[in-house]
Order: sequence, then C-alpha cells, then structure tokens
Amino acid sequence: MAAYEFETHEYDVVVVGAGGAGLRATLGMAEQGLRTACVTKVFPTRSHTVAAQGGIAASLSNMGPDHWQWHMFDTVKGSDWLGDTDAMEYLAREAPKAVYELEHYGVPFSRTEEGKIYQRPFGGHTTEFGDGPPVQRTCAAADRTGHAILHTLYGQSLKNNAEFYIEYFAIDLIMSEDGVCQGVVCWKLDDGTMHVFNAKTVVLATGGYGRAYFSCTSAHTCTGDGGGMVARAGLPLQDMEFVQFHPTGIYGAGCLITEGARGEGGYLTNAEGERFMERYAPQYKDLAPRDYVSRSMTMEIREGRGVGEHGDHIHLNLSHLPAEALAERLPGISESAKIFAGVDVTKEPIPVLPTVHYNMGGIPTNYWGEVLNPTAKDPNAVVPGLMAVGEAGCASVHGANRLGSNSLIDLVVFGRAAAIRAGKVVDPEAPNPELNRPSIDKAFDRFDGLRHAKGNIPTAELRLEMQRTMQADAAVFRTDETLKEGVEKMTAIAAKVDDLAVTDRSLVWNSDLMETLELTNLMPNALATIHGAEARKESRGAHASEDHPTRDDENWRVHTISRVEGNQVTLTHRPVIVDPLTTEAEGGIALKKIAPKARTF
Ligand code: FUM
Repeated sequence: MAAYEFETHEYDVVVVGAGGAGLRATLGMAEQGLRTACVTKVFPTRSHTVAAQGGIAASLSNMGPDHWQWHMFDTVKGSDWLGDTDAMEYLAREAPKAVYELEHYGVPFSRTEEGKIYQRPFGGHTTEFGDGPPVQRTCAAADRTGHAILHTLYGQSLKNNAEFYIEYFAIDLIMSEDGVCQGVVCWKLDDGTMHVFNAKTVVLATGGYGRAYFSCTSAHTCTGDGGGMVARAGLPLQDMEFVQFHPTGIYGAGCLITEGARGEGGYLTNAEGERFMERYAPQYKDLAPRDYVSRSMTMEIREGRGVGEHGDHIHLNLSHLPAEALAERLPGISESAKIFAGVDVTKEPIPVLPTVHYNMGGIPTNYWGEVLNPTAKDPNAVVPGLMAVGEAGCASVHGANRLGSNSLIDLVVFGRAAAIRAGKVVDPEAPNPELNRPSIDKAFDRFDGLRHAKGNIPTAELRLEMQRTMQADAAVFRTDETLKEGVEKMTAIAAKVDDLAVTDRSLVWNSDLMETLELTNLMPNALATIHGAEARKESRGAHASEDHPTRDDENWRVHTISRVEGNQVTLTHRPVIVDPLTTEAEGGIALKKIAPKARTF
C-alpha cells in the first residue's frame, strides 16, 4: 500500500471545478452560509468557460416577442426528443431569472440603445413553437460572454467567503462502503502535498472531455475528470454517444469561431460560392441547429464542393458586414481569425470545418444536479452526497443535440439549482462523515501506481492513438463498420493503460504524471462514447448513422447508460422523461407534451 501523508479539510460542500457551473454552484452555496470549498486544477478564470463566446440563452424579449415556452419547445426539438422534459422546462423557465441575477452580480453584458441586455439570434432558437422566424434570445457580452461571466462569478464567490484550492488535482472520490460520497482525494500540483477533502456533498463541475478527440475547440484541460472519477467509483455515465461538432472551428487550428458570427449575419459558402444551407434548411438556413449545419458542410465537402487546395473545408463570410459591427459585436473572433487563419474578416472569408465542441452526455443527474445511478435497484434514487453540474453532468437537458447558447445557461441554471438543493439537504450543524479509509488508500495506490509506471508507452503516444481513433471512427457521420472497428481499436488502446511509461517521479509540477491521470479520465469517457454509438441503431441529433439514417422513436427514444470497468463497457437503457413539470398556463401559454415529429428547419 502506498503511504502518502495528507492534510484533511472539512467542509459542508466541496465543488470540484471552477468553470461557469462550478463557480455558480460555489457562489450559491456560500451565499447560504454553507462552508464551501472550490477545488480546481487551473486558476478559476482560466477554466474553459472563459472561451465561451456567443452568449447565453434566455427568453428576455429584449429584441422582440419571446416566451420561455418557445425556448423550451426549441430545446426539446433541438434535443431530437431525447432530452428529459422536466429538466428542459426547468432550464427555459429559470433562464431569465438566472440571467438577471448575473446582471445584478455585475456581468458586463452588451446593451441595446435603450440600455437593455443585447440579444442575438443563434441556431435553432425560433418563435411560435418553431413556426415563426428566428428569435434574438442569446444574451451577449460582445463575443466574450463566458469571460465576462467567469470573472464576475469568481469575484462574487470570493466576496461571499467561498474558499478556493487552486491548482489542486482531484484524483478520486471517497465513497463509503454503502455508496455515499464522502469527499475527494487531491494532489496539490505546486508543492506535491496530498489533501483529503471531507464533505457532506461533493459537486462535480469538471467540464467535458473534448480532448478525447484529435481536433476540438476545447481547452487541453477538458479531460472528463468527473466522468473518470465516477466510472472508477462504479457509477454509470449517460448518453455518451452524442458528441457535438461545432460547424465553425478554424480549419487546421480548431479554435472556435462563434455561431454568433452567423447570428450577426455571416453565412457559409462552398467552392462554387453558393450559400448551400438554403438547400438543406430552407427556413432557417445558416441558423439551423449545429448537428444540421455540420452534416450539411460535411456533405458539401464529400460531394466535391469543399474549398481550398484539398477541397476539404468551407468558407464563413463576414466581409459584407459593416466593419464597425464586426469591431463592436465580434472583436474576439476577428482577432482569432487573424492569428489562427491569417484572415482579415473585413476582407476575406474564414476557412472553417466542423470541430468537436461539446458532450451532451455525462454523469446522469436529476434537474437539481443530484447524481443518479440508473443501474441501481431504484433507478431514480440519488447517490447520496454527490452532485454533477455543467458539461460534466447530464440532466438531460440537451438530449441528442444542444442548441448554441444553451450551454452557458445550463451552467448557471443548474449550478444555481444544485445550490438551492444543497441549501435544503445539507445540514451545516451535522457532523461531517467519518471517512472510509480504504477508499482513500485505493486512491493513493492508483496515484502511486501511475507515478511509478514503468511500461513501454509514453502517455502522449497513447493519448494520440486514442484521439486519432475517436476522430476517425466516431465522427460527424458514422457507419456500422467504422463504429465496430472503433470499439475494437479503443478496447485495445484502453488496455494499454497498464503499459504506460511515466518518466518523472517527482511530486512538484509533474506534468507527465498529471497528463497520465488525465488520460486515465479521458479513456472511460471515450470508451463509453464509442460503445454507445456502436449500439445505437438509428440517427438522432449528433449521432448520424449512415446505415440507420432515420430516427427510431419506438426502439431508441431511450437514454444509454454505460458502466465502464477497465476496458470493458456494459450498456443498459433508461426511459426518457416525457412529462413537463406543470401544465398550467403561464403568460397565456399552456404547456402540453411536445410529441416527437420530423425535425426539419
Ligand atoms: O458558438 C458559440 O459561441 C458557442 C456557443 C455555445 O457552444 O453555446
């Protein structure tokens, strides 16, 4: 057994991760007087939310008529009828409140002439339950909305006495013998000390796992750490086959060019200079949802109408927009286009390509952020002491496809919901749990094993093998053959974790070891993704199967539940929640079940 000394810290709540969801949860907990710690592997304002550009969806009606029921309808249709209706209603209904709270906390939103929060159009956001024109629902701080939100939430959390443990890497959850989460074991990166956090509730807000792929808009830190810890705790993941490709990653570099660029009037063209989206989505064109646009771009390229020397990408045109509008509304992407594509957006189109951007799947939760174990005897029972929010969690509010700008609102609505729930279930007067020592020892043993790994494969090499396989075999379009091959390859790749070679044995700023721990988190996420995709014999949202091109509601309107143990994955299913929370009329609009129908735009 590995003997590491450690310091123990006691809190009511420990939040792991300091992106938008983690900080909103931290702030909400601290505001209620709960003793709250936020543990994060990067400085809070460097979390990946800082890169969110275009905005945050809420039916404020600042630019024209809008209703939360329309927002909810768009989210249901956007999800291709795989999202849970209670969570989608909660999101749309709470969104305006959550945004006004952000405004009052001090988020510097862009403004209309009248001084209201500026809102822009985004893909899939419409009026009149999908029958009317696009709506301006996405609240923006220029094209740096995530940056503005993150800085504000960090400041507010400090003001409310939340305590931050910065550059602490969470190794594993501490679970009691009877399945209660009691805390988390951490490694402090800058001095090599070990820390055990004892908490009545742990909130996983660790973000997505974009780095399981070769080309993504995600930061290098997006390594699915929460999903990895949950899988090792013997808990399942949900709907992992649904991976969103953002239509406009910069060709070659992968950096994000916000959908807000199309919201402000930008459009895509092929090698013939044709605005091809008019053919695929006659009503909403370039403002169709992301899965639709990414598939259309891929089809154009496959049919020989891609741009560039190799005909392998598409053009995003902004040069027809006034230079002042570009400077005011899209300064960030104008700069990114210059740096990463060498393009002056006032004069030339940006070369773009669908790029991995977001994970709809994650750790299954209810809409309060409480983690569920659908493989347990009672599939609706929560895992005591454990919550998951933001991209790490799966409420499931995005189903098979997320609408642009529904991510930032997911972070704040569900970060806030977790805090509201914790305020009810966490008793600050109660003693902290007595920690299960074998669970702590297990975490240190795993850590020590990787620290002294003497195998044959460097971490970077195995990571690249995984990334290339995921990119090739679980892409925008998938076939039975590529997915079968992907499962076989990923099973073999995951087995090689036992043959990793770590060369640096130190404990201080050991990036070799940290990246190895991250790889062991990416791996179960990637395995669950490829297995879930291989099993799903239909096309729905971001899962586009060439062999099963239609949606099959009779057999497949179900969530995929995956248990990952080593390199083996077991799949089961859970029904989609189809009932709304209320059916009462509000604002003159009564909610009813939104029955599945053909998803056209
Ligand atoms: O395109 C964007 O600005 C990204 C927004 C999102 O993913 O919600």
